[in-house]
Amino acid sequence: MLKTKEWAILTILGIFIYSPIRASEPEKLELNRFIRPAVCRDCHGSIFDQWENSMHNLSHKDPVYSRVAKFLRRGLVHEGEVREAESCVKCHTPIGYMTGFPKRVSDDLSKTPEIAVQGIQCDFCHSAVKVRQMYNNGLELEPGHGEDDPGIKQGPFDDAEPDFHEARFSPLHTDATICGTCHDVKHVAFGTNLETTYTEWANSPYNSKDPGKRVVCQGCHMFQRPGIPATGSTPRPENPGSASDYSDERPHIFTHYFVGANAGLPRMFQSEQKAKMAEERLRHAADLSLDTSGIKEKKLKIAITNSGAGHSIPTGVGDLRQVWLEIRIQDQNNQIKFQSGVLNEKHELPEETLLFRTIFGDGKGNPVINLAKAREVLTDNRIKAKETRNLVVDLPGVPDKGSRIRIRLLYRSMPRKLLNMIPGEPFELLPVIEMARVEKQL
Ligand code: HEC
Ligand code: HEC
Ligand code: HEC
Ligand code: HEC
Ligand code: HEC
Repeated sequence: MLKTKEWAILTILGIFIYSPIRASEPEKLELNRFIRPAVCRDCHGSIFDQWENSMHNLSHKDPVYSRVAKFLRRGLVHEGEVREAESCVKCHTPIGYMTGFPKRVSDDLSKTPEIAVQGIQCDFCHSAVKVRQMYNNGLELEPGHGEDDPGIKQGPFDDAEPDFHEARFSPLHTDATICGTCHDVKHVAFGTNLETTYTEWANSPYNSKDPGKRVVCQGCHMFQRPGIPATGSTPRPENPGSASDYSDERPHIFTHYFVGANAGLPRMFQSEQKAKMAEERLRHAADLSLDTSGIKEKKLKIAITNSGAGHSIPTGVGDLRQVWLEIRIQDQNNQIKFQSGVLNEKHELPEETLLFRTIFGDGKGNPVINLAKAREVLTDNRIKAKETRNLVVDLPGVPDKGSRIRIRLLYRSMPRKLLNMIPGEPFELLPVIEMARVEKQL
């Protein structure tokens, strides 16, 4: 017989070891309780237009996601790897998952109910009442009962009196935690931190107790509109307007474009506006500077500052996103004397490129590209919020006087090499976006 104290220790150990595995499941909800976004459009026309073809609207339809998901299921051995590879629908098709179909990414997704195909939508977010856990879609929902009894929509106002549905002020909606429940992703079996956007933000200077300095996710991402990137290094002016097609004007209406860094996907869905907004966001995320005082010693000193993002650059799927330095030195006859990080004719990056990313490991120190096999984070050299990263690049020789040095910080959503490994129709080329550049003549 174990003594009480030993039980207590075992229980604590059990919670510690198994906590990611024992993550609680959401209560099953009936599908017909949710209301289609098209119904909300009847009164919230401009919010609907912003959200339509946003990454949230596309989370289920995104072919990059669904083809990567299919690819990951190949060659798995451990039961925990299979469980992880099946878990994607939890966040990418959340209404489907919470109402019973699909439960796994290998289910016949063509049978996904139409409302769930619409991804992360109005009635999902505005039915959220509580955080059950801070990762892997830990929101608890209280939707109404369909269009005839739409129930209470949770939002930022404490004085809204709509006629169609009831409304309630929800502190959760004004806080970063509502976003963090999905923007922190843990491996369902091994507990590895696969995405940590919320945690990165929580550990950043933006998570300040001083209300004048505090900027939550919404403070950047729900202030952006065309021409106003609303990052940490640009103004984030209020957006006066009406929350519905017929209600009174308010000082600020939160925008619903949910633009991050992905320009390729919106373009695939003919949303040129959102693609441009992603580019605008990326162009106001980081600063570059170059110091050539060590050039005689064949050294280039480069500093990169994350001046605009409320989390690391890149964030999200940090093993897939590519942020890198392209360096090019040309002499006065335009001959290239040195280069690094220049894409080759197959659109792939050379080995020695200075990339900022996370690399997952198999638990024995070997890198893995399949996140279902990720048992550890081997390295993470992404640039944290407000961090300045100083780098020294060794050159093969001293550049001649008059040489021109050009350095660019570039972004691409996914390596071409990985996309080429995925069977089927070749992917369109993903855009390469210039985040920052410096040029200097010696
Ligand atoms: C990812 C979650 C999410 C989705 C999807 C979403 N909203 Fe919102 N919405 C929010 C949050 C969060 C706020 C409040 C932000 C704050 O107070 O900081 C908000 C605010 C609002 C408001 C108050 C007015 C304003 O914009 O400030 C309305 C109305 C609204 N949303 C309607 C909608 C409709 C209609 C849709 C679908 C077309 C939608 N929302 C989709 C999270 C979401
Ligand atoms: C018949 C018109 C109508 C429809 C349909 C409608 N709304 Fe509203 N909604 C309003 C009005 C009017 C307001 C109040 C705006 C204000 O006070 O500025 C409002 C306010 C809101 C708010 C803010 C609540 C708060 O207290 O902060 C949210 C969130 C919201 N609606 C979500 C939705 C969602 C989600 C849908 C679709 C399921 C929807 N609405 C459908 C008319 C409508
Ligand atoms: C101070 C402004 C700011 C705040 C606060 C902020 N972001 Fe961002 N976010 C940015 C900028 C700038 C980018 C583009 C650069 C990048 O990709 O990191 C971005 C990009 C993103 C991306 C796309 C990342 C990629 O490379 O694929 C996601 C997802 C995202 N943010 C989510 C969040 C969430 C969730 C929060 C809150 C926990 C948040 N952001 C807080 C400014 C901000
Ligand atoms: C139900 C889970 C969920 C919630 C809640 C959620 N997101 Fe997302 N978000 C996602 C998923 C999944 C994607 C990626 C879809 C894809 O790339 O296929 C995404 C994409 C994004 C992007 C675009 C990233 C890019 O690469 O361009 C931004 C920005 C973003 N979310 C911000 C937010 C903010 C701000 C909130 C809180 C108001 C929030 N999200 C709440 C699941 C969620
Ligand atoms: C806990 C929620 C969550 C789960 C579970 C989840 N994702 Fe995501 N996924 C996200 C968020 C949030 C983003 C957006 C981050 C960003 O833009 O970098 C995203 C983005 C992606 C992207 C980038 C899409 C693009 O168009 O560039 C891919 C690919 C992806 N996820 C694959 C998967 C696969 C495969 C699984 C299952 C093994 C999975 N995700 C499970 C939340 C989740």
